[in-house]
Amino acid sequence: MKYRPLGKTGIEVSEIGFGAWALGEDWWGRQSDSDSLAALEKAVELGVNHIDTAAAYGGGKSERIIRDFLKGRAGKVYVATKVAPQTHIWRPSPWEKWDAAYSEAYLRQDVETRLRNLGTDCLDICFLHTWTRAWNRDPGPLLALAKLRKEGKIRAVGISTPEHDQDAVNDPMKAGLLDAVQVIYNLFDQDASAELLPTAQAAGTGVIVRVAFDEGSLTGKYTPDTQFPENDFRRTYFKGERLRDTVERVEEIRKDVAGSGYALPQAALLYPLAQPGVSAVIPGIRNPAQADLNTAVADLPPLPRPLVEKLRRHAWRRGVWYP
Ligand SMILES: NC(=O)c1ccc[n+]([C@@H]2O[C@H](COP(=O)([O-])OP(=O)(O)OC[C@H]3O[C@@H](n4cnc5c(N)ncnc54)[C@H](OP(=O)(O)O)[C@@H]3O)[C@@H](O)[C@H]2O)c1
Repeated sequence: MKYRPLGKTGIEVSEIGFGAWALGEDWWGRQSDSDSLAALEKAVELGVNHIDTAAAYGGGKSERIIRDFLKGRAGKVYVATKVAPQTHIWRPSPWEKWDAAYSEAYLRQDVETRLRNLGTDCLDICFLHTWTRAWNRDPGPLLALAKLRKEGKIRAVGISTPEHDQDAVNDPMKAGLLDAVQVIYNLFDQDASAELLPTAQAAGTGVIVRVAFDEGSLTGKYTPDTQFPENDFRRTYFKGERLRDTVERVEEIRKDVAGSGYALPQAALLYPLAQPGVSAVIPGIRNPAQADLNTAVADLPPLPRPLVEKLRRHAWRRGVWYP
């Protein structure tokens, strides 16, 4: 495993972190707690030192499994969690006022719940789970989180970018309000290279990359006939012709990766890690086999520059597919 600084936080993060969304069990079909615990065990044994979770993942279930896993464990494993907007509007419109979503009173109370769920007295990283650029002129929630940081309840303050407008976090980064951001970056969605990543680098903001596999498609395992179980959001994400269109594009990527010595899932994780400014990537991990495969990627040599350049052509500006 290799480690990189998370901006100016003083935290060194493993290049591969653990994405724990599926551990909440409400969006990804069936997930057994024993698989979740075994996956965490394997990943940490192989050098993973940070886990990403959220209040919204199973109503805190993902956080509580992580708490149980970390109980009595020697050695520091950092946990990033996310506060959900009180409105539960995941794509806030510019008309919405921030105090409906993230008033200081709500943030204080919710951070206490996150601390309890994780069994700790300080959150390593606390992200706001969504944002709108309309709040940049009056970033009250970030000032409230900065107070909680000063009080010792939070170590690093961040925003997980809204997928419809990731560059919305650029101004708060420039204003020095964000220790870390969580960002979508993958072989399809490369827009963050234009503005967001250079801004983060200049501001000393740590960048954690999510959805490197495009919800699994970039592992190359889907076909146009893949069926997703009940209660799996991928039924919607890849609905209609989206799955077929995605698989066609993945096959084009596979051709470019062939002969390079990297398997497609490995290239998918190494691609964001090859972008200047990226601290770590957090693939979703559901079982020990995925923990093994995904952590091993950090021991490979970085993608050679010519391959990185070649893969740029797969950028796909398809819009937002989340419900
Ligand atoms: N707004 C936000 O803040 C936000 C949004 C999305 C994600 N996230 C965070 O980012 C993390 C990563 O994103 P994600 O989990 O949505 O998507 P992802 O990393 O693109 O895909 C993860 C899924 O791919 C499959 N997979 C993982 N490793 C594999 C391998 N080596 N080979 C084949 N299949 C593999 C697993 O599902 P199956 O085994 O079921 O196929 C896994 O759940 C999340 O867990 C979460 O922590 C945050």
